[in-house]
Amino acid sequence: MKITNTQRVKGIGSVLTGLLLLAFISLSPSYHSQGEALFKAKCATCHAVFQNGTGPKLYGAVERWEAEGEGELIYEWVQNNAKLRGSGKSKRAAAVFAEYKGSVMTVFADLTNEQIGSIFEWVDSQDPNASAGGNAQAGLENGSSEEEEGGLPWTWIILGVMFVIIIMAVSGVRRQLKIATKESGDSTDSLTYVEEFKTWAWKYRLYVGLVTLVLVLSLIVGLFKVLYSINVMENYQPSQPIAFPHDVHAGINGIDCKYCHNSVTKSKSAGIPSVNVCMNCHKKINGEGKEFKGEIDKIYTAAGWDPSRGPAGEYTGKTSPIVWNKVHNLPDHVYFNHSQHVVVGGLDCKQCHGDMAKMKETAKVQPHGELNKIQENIDSKIEFTKPTLTMGWCIECHGQSGVDIAGSDNAYYDEIHNRLKKNDYSLLNSYNDDGKVTVKELGGWECSKCHY
Ligand code: HEC
Ligand code: HEC
Ligand code: HEC
Ligand code: HEC
Ligand code: HEC
Ligand code: HEC
Repeated sequence: MKITNTQRVKGIGSVLTGLLLLAFISLSPSYHSQGEALFKAKCATCHAVFQNGTGPKLYGAVERWEAEGEGELIYEWVQNNAKLRGSGKSKRAAAVFAEYKGSVMTVFADLTNEQIGSIFEWVDSQDPNASAGGNAQAGLENGSSEEEEGGLPWTWIILGVMFVIIIMAVSGVRRQLKIATKESGDSTDSLTYVEEFKTWAWKYRLYVGLVTLVLVLSLIVGLFKVLYSINVMENYQPSQPIAFPHDVHAGINGIDCKYCHNSVTKSKSAGIPSVNVCMNCHKKINGEGKEFKGEIDKIYTAAGWDPSRGPAGEYTGKTSPIVWNKVHNLPDHVYFNHSQHVVVGGLDCKQCHGDMAKMKETAKVQPHGELNKIQENIDSKIEFTKPTLTMGWCIECHGQSGVDIAGSDNAYYDEIHNRLKKNDYSLLNSYNDDGKVTVKELGGWECSKCHY
């Protein structure tokens, strides 16, 4: 008899444990480590975890610097490698720079020691065996699956607290049951499992309440984590190898966006100009005597241009491409096409990117609040409430953007218009009830339009 009661209690315990594990499992995949996120955003363009690429593999980098007795200097290296090299106090800096002749690492003055530490921590926590024989990307891909297993420490703290509470509750029940069986023999035996659980739950309502509260709270936190980890990139502004100001070029000097982003009307992507495009102007505009001369010199290093050679400068043939860090970055499963929006949809770059011609700093993902201030969006009655680049953002615009199917000189729309007029006037009228035919009404909310 005693045994069955104990078993029941154990039963409750294991149900709760199961629930907890379930909660934990559903929580943990949403925790992305800061180190991994930073690595992917800032370093992965040049570094892989296990393979040498544009820069050396980062696995074991801390060890390599510690071996030189320069464990502390690696932070300075990441923050400003040129400065550290210039100071001459680091042997490793000189050695690795000599080894990667011609490639210069980006300056990351905005990274704190803690953030840099988190990058190396993540890198060194990767499993070298898992990627043996892979290509340069293997280290990265392997990393992303690896990371799912490790949660933040406070996941464990929550879990620990929950276990303590349950153990307390369960041992309390056990004691109570022992007392009960001693005093009144079989009385508890006649209760059904559910009734017994109810009595137990009521008796320990404080514990049960606490456990439930913690469970619910952590589920909510988990849900938010999942939602936020779907790539909210508003305000994202990675550091760039050259401090390229859009206002000076597209604003003050009135250079057309398409001069540099020349595939924007023709293809899916807008494209980032190669260094040759910069050289069209900067061979002459050398920044002599200006405080931005250092930035122009970086263009020359990249293009392999030596302004001091010959009468007007010469190419040395030693080039090293500028590696711009991507600012806008949709996940691979999303299809976005620039020419469709700019040419067919007739949208202005501003409506999605803000007024770049006024931006002094390097490009960043504009917050949706800023986009709402853009005149073209106000005129088209487009108002965003969802963060830029999220699915909600695309959907919202498709629900609000009118498409001028009647007045356009676009064959595709003419075709739709004629077909609607011929076959289904009521449908056309219902589309037009709000005075416009929206992208949504033409299928812009269909999953397959945006997802591969
Ligand atoms: C534009 C390309 C580029 C980016 C982006 C970049 N690096 Fe580098 N990194 C290099 C190159 C090239 C070297 C080799 C040294 C040199 O030529 O300056 C290097 C060297 C290093 C080294 C020395 C490795 C060793 O074996 O001693 C460390 C550490 C390092 N990078 C960390 C980082 C971190 C952390 C980030 C991201 C925050 C990053 N790098 C981003 C190009 C890059
Ligand atoms: C002189 C060349 C030049 C002109 C003109 C120019 N850009 Fe750029 N643009 C660049 C370069 C170089 C970068 C990469 C550096 C950066 O991200 O800040 C860039 C980056 C961008 C990005 C971010 C790219 C990313 O990685 O997601 C956007 C958006 C952009 N430009 C839009 C515009 C718009 C809109 C205009 C016109 C108002 C314009 N650009 C005019 C050179 C140019
Ligand atoms: C409907 C919104 C929208 C409009 C309009 C728009 N863009 Fe973009 N732009 C995006 C999105 C979304 C991305 C990210 C694409 C990706 O990651 O695949 C992007 C990325 C870019 C990039 C980074 C390189 C690339 O192609 O991924 C540049 C440069 C750029 N846009 C320039 C422009 C210029 C110049 C115009 C105007 C001629 C323009 N965009 C108009 C939404 C827009
Ligand atoms: C069509 C001509 C043209 C092109 C192409 C061009 N620039 Fe410029 N750039 C200018 C002019 C003009 C200035 C302003 C010079 C001044 O103020 O003395 C300038 C200034 C700059 C500055 C200094 C800005 C400051 O005030 O800090 C940087 C950095 C720069 N350009 C980088 C680039 C890069 C990188 C590219 C290629 C992606 C590029 N430019 C392409 C014309 C151009
Ligand atoms: C500023 C408003 C706006 C935003 C933001 C926007 N779109 Fe669009 N989109 C349009 C317009 C207008 C069209 C109509 C052009 C057309 O029908 O080809 C369109 C058309 C499309 C189409 C073709 C639909 C069809 O019926 O063939 C796809 C696919 C698409 N957008 C994807 C996206 C994705 C993905 C995003 C978010 C990353 C996005 N759009 C963000 C305005 C927007
Ligand atoms: C107008 C374009 C558009 C349409 C239509 C659209 N999506 Fe998306 N979806 C996106 C974009 C952009 C993202 C990436 C959002 C991000 O990274 O934050 C996304 C992300 C997602 C994700 C999250 C995946 C992740 O990155 O974690 C799911 C799931 C999804 N979409 C499902 C759907 C389904 C189901 C439909 C149809 C009912 C649909 N989408 C229709 C643009 C669209």
